[in-house]
Amino acid sequence: MELELKNVHIRAGDQLKVRGVILHDAERFQIDLGRSADDLGLHFNPRFHDDTDGAVLVCNSKAAGCWGDEKRETNNPLQRGADVKMVLKLTGDMFEVELPDGHEVQFPNRDGMDIISYIKIAGDFKLTSFKIC
Ligand code: GAL
Repeated sequence: MELELKNVHIRAGDQLKVRGVILHDAERFQIDLGRSADDLGLHFNPRFHDDTDGAVLVCNSKAAGCWGDEKRETNNPLQRGADVKMVLKLTGDMFEVELPDGHEVQFPNRDGMDIISYIKIAGDFKLTSFKIC
């Protein structure tokens, strides 16, 4: 699936609640937060069959179309086929992603984005609900 939203207005302290089902044969999906497709503060990219790490949570940023340095979390509690709820937060200096087991992945807000105006959710994921609060 692919959901792309432009001209949203998410500020520090706001939360994005994403719920859906990871496809049973999922390779990867992503939740992107930023200013545009070319400027992302957070690319949150769970992979289930990565060449190097197998099941891994890849995080990265993108500036003017260029990826930054990846941060990889090999402790990936997300399971193929699972119905999951994830909460993404912009706290100011950091992005935080709360996973279904309560574990939190943190990623620095490298470009100091104070407003998120672009959201994309895509890949091997069936979105069932989505809320900005
Ligand atoms: C690339 C991949 C992109 C993105 C990026 C993150 O290898 O093609 O879709 O996930 O890694 O660093």
